[in-house]
Amino acid sequence: MSAEGTDLKKRRFLTAATSVVGAVGVGFALVPFIASMQPSAKAKALGAPAEADISKLEPGQILRVKWRGQPVWVVHRTEQNLKDLETLTSELLDPSSEAPQQPPYAKNPHRSRKPQFFVAVGICTHLGCSPTYRPEVAPADLGPAWKGGFFCPCHGSRFDLAGRVSKGVPAPSNLVVPPYRFLSDTLILIGDDGGAA
Ligand code: FES
Repeated sequence: MSAEGTDLKKRRFLTAATSVVGAVGVGFALVPFIASMQPSAKAKALGAPAEADISKLEPGQILRVKWRGQPVWVVHRTEQNLKDLETLTSELLDPSSEAPQQPPYAKNPHRSRKPQFFVAVGICTHLGCSPTYRPEVAPADLGPAWKGGFFCPCHGSRFDLAGRVSKGVPAPSNLVVPPYRFLSDTLILIGDDGGAA
């Protein structure tokens, strides 16, 4: 091989080697950049759906779970609760849940996928206190018209057992129904409704 041929070969080898180093260098530089764009494990956990096991939830009882750092309630309503819901509409601000941004399964008189189970974010729509579950009928402090529901101790807002707000209280809208679906008869996935919303 001539001296010129050997030089050309060397140059090609050096060019190729430099390109590889360059590509590896870029690779190393990109990895931390891309990693920094991924949500952290904590952020992922915060946004992840939560499961509610309702296998032991008796009629009249409430189960509290946490989803995205918020309290979410699952209430097992009794047959009587469901009958009472039908009698309350004249006292309610938005009995049919006409307000936007609610999943379609919240737009019925019981505001739920299954009549007996009510799922809601347990935060008052006034200024964010957590209302108290008051399932009793006509307790002395809430008056004879009370058929069970949620009472906000901060400024007195009242919601029925479908989370529908009463007229004339500070809260402007019904309790929020989160996206959810039933994974089985006894397991609810909160935060994911399979695109039904
Ligand atoms: S925060 Fe509930 S009534 Fe004001």
